[in-house]
Amino acid sequence: MAQQVQGVVAPGKNEPVRVETIVVPDPGPGEAVVKVQACGVCHTDLHYKQGGINDDFPFLLGHEAAGVVESVGEGVTDVAPGDFVILNWRAVCGNCRACLRGRPQYCFNTHNAAQKMTLTDGTELSPALGIGAFAEKTLVAAGQCTKVDPSVSPAVAGLLGCGVMAGIGAAINTGQVGRGDSVAVIGCGGVGDAAIVGARLAGAARIIAVDIDDRKLETAKSMGATHTVNSRSTDPVEAIRELTGGFGADVVIEAVGRPETYKQAFYARDLAGTVVLVGVPTPEMTLELSLIDVFGRGGSLKSSWYGDCLPSRDFPMLIDLHQQGRIDLGAFVTETIGLGDVEKAFARMHEGDVLRSVVVF
Ligand code: APR
Ligand code: ZN
Ligand code: ZN
Repeated sequence: MAQQVQGVVAPGKNEPVRVETIVVPDPGPGEAVVKVQACGVCHTDLHYKQGGINDDFPFLLGHEAAGVVESVGEGVTDVAPGDFVILNWRAVCGNCRACLRGRPQYCFNTHNAAQKMTLTDGTELSPALGIGAFAEKTLVAAGQCTKVDPSVSPAVAGLLGCGVMAGIGAAINTGQVGRGDSVAVIGCGGVGDAAIVGARLAGAARIIAVDIDDRKLETAKSMGATHTVNSRSTDPVEAIRELTGGFGADVVIEAVGRPETYKQAFYARDLAGTVVLVGVPTPEMTLELSLIDVFGRGGSLKSSWYGDCLPSRDFPMLIDLHQQGRIDLGAFVTETIGLGDVEKAFARMHEGDVLRSVVVF
């Protein structure tokens, strides 16, 4: 029997979000219905509401979530009712060229649930990033569910579903930060701070945090930055070179998504170093670089999609480290809120003092 639950819907471009009754069908073959316990508010949800992703309104927002599997459809064997799971954007196939080369985030054959959730009048909803978890229950492909230790707080577990995984993964998976490396992180919001946590976990000797806001630099320090640079008052490329014996950082992680910070990242790396681009630019942005610098500097330039994570490997591992007290993912939860407070959480994003507002059920 299809069920009716409450969910946060973005009805049209720039219109305020509304809590609506939504219809969640029973899981079909390969699908699962998950009782959501927590879902973080991410910038991407705001972009959906603003029409910046696509025009497939109405959206069922929310995509950074953890919960308990309620029911599964035919053929589902990896998860079962009662399992505590973290949701990820899409199930990967495991067989395509990208998957076989160990780059599952670039899988050619990803999939989401085949059935659609709807409003009570039958209007089909587009779930944000194939999840739609600002809802008491949501329908996903079973392959989007990764089982983890159920003793962790759902608000913490859900964070790994997007921003925190993107940041930690940028350092440990994409950037391959190694013991003793010097790492610079440009932009210390939730994603940049998570990159700092990842760099520390990987054994970086120096972690240089760069931001234009002193409050962000303070938080970055508490996350593990060893040095901070305010790039409003100091040239960050010069400062990073000075702090690394004149060489530049072994790994520079860009977590802003602007041309000037891409350029800083390019020049702040050591000649053989790696630049990891996590900040998402807009389609209009371009960057001019001297070709002799591109040619002469060597090293590598990589973009990081979802932290190059393999959910089945990375989610349980990071939850384990959190439970042991070796990383503190709880530090990313600024506040827990109710389903009716998502619009307020969007407003708070701009104030710059929130890492994550997390809806709890
Ligand atoms: N130089 C340095 N830092 C900057 C600059 C700049 N020119 N402009 C903004 N910042 C800082 C902000 O002060 C803030 O601390 O970058 C940080 C951005 O943080 P958030 O807005 O909280 O964004 P976050 O969720 O961390 O995501 C960062 O990663 O995944 C992508 O789409 C995401 O592009 C976004 C980026
Ligand atoms: Zn997100
Ligand atoms: Zn694949």
